[in-house]
Amino acid sequence: MLKTTEIDDKLTLTEREFEQISEMVYNHCGINLHDGKKELVRSRLAKILRQRQFHSFSHYMDYVASDSSGQAFSELIDSLSTNLTSFFREAIHFEYLATVYLPELIAQRKDANQLRLRGWSAGCSSGEEPYSIAITLLEALHDRSRWDVKLLASDISTRILHRAREGVYEHERIAPVSAALKNRYLIQRKHRDQKRYEVAPALRQLIVFKYVNLMEEWPFRGPFDFIFCRNVMIYFDKPTQQRLINRFCQVLAPGGILFTGHSESLTGIRHNFRYVQPTIYKKG
Ligand SMILES: C[S@@+](CC[C@H](N)C(=O)[O-])C[C@H]1O[C@@H](n2cnc3c(N)ncnc32)[C@H](O)[C@@H]1O
Repeated sequence: MLKTTEIDDKLTLTEREFEQISEMVYNHCGINLHDGKKELVRSRLAKILRQRQFHSFSHYMDYVASDSSGQAFSELIDSLSTNLTSFFREAIHFEYLATVYLPELIAQRKDANQLRLRGWSAGCSSGEEPYSIAITLLEALHDRSRWDVKLLASDISTRILHRAREGVYEHERIAPVSAALKNRYLIQRKHRDQKRYEVAPALRQLIVFKYVNLMEEWPFRGPFDFIFCRNVMIYFDKPTQQRLINRFCQVLAPGGILFTGHSESLTGIRHNFRYVQPTIYKKG
């Protein structure tokens, strides 16, 4: 009898099928699956084919196309998107937020008697990014109860959003969080002899998790004081990045900040942002 991995290896993805999948994925969510990704697509989708007992990619594609609920397509996108993330990933962004941007913004808002802050984690994956932002916000706001603070955390993957909402992490995942912050914002839980950490209610209260496909119409207009869109645009081609950057600019408040991933500079993109430091851009 063949092992499941051997069955997966036997499933061939033809050039034509790969093109169809790439086109569907690109049109739906902007992810650019170039030729080098063919084996990755084959092996990730092979798992779904096996679970759902399809013997060829073309049968599977017919099933995806005919499923009017959209669930099959959502499962396809889930399996192809990369969700790598971590707490306080790219620490310079959190340092900038904590030591430069938030102190200035908080002082300005106090002067204007407008105690309101809005942020967006666009492509939030399993939640480590928005929870890290929420920790940074709470550390900066000494009189939290007087403030109206909200953080939108969105992703295209419903599976990963579910994990983000749960907010429960294994011991290794919270390694980047300092001991002091762990004490304040993470609650230790035992789960079948394993240590797990659950985010504190104070963090949850700040965040609204929402399915948002960045390629589609957004169900909000902002303005946001800052947007984190990190390690998402890397999967998009230049025209898609260009459109997205323009749209981020539109929903940012004047002086608002856009944080991008370490390999996502705005070089080659026309924009109205002022460069602050690598991967940090200010509107206007
Ligand atoms: C590599 S993770 C980045 C997570 C986090 N921002 C970070 O830097 O640690 C990329 C995330 O972008 C999401 N994504 C990809 N295409 C998207 C789209 N069109 N709309 C919304 N989210 C998308 C994926 O589902 C994935 O969770």
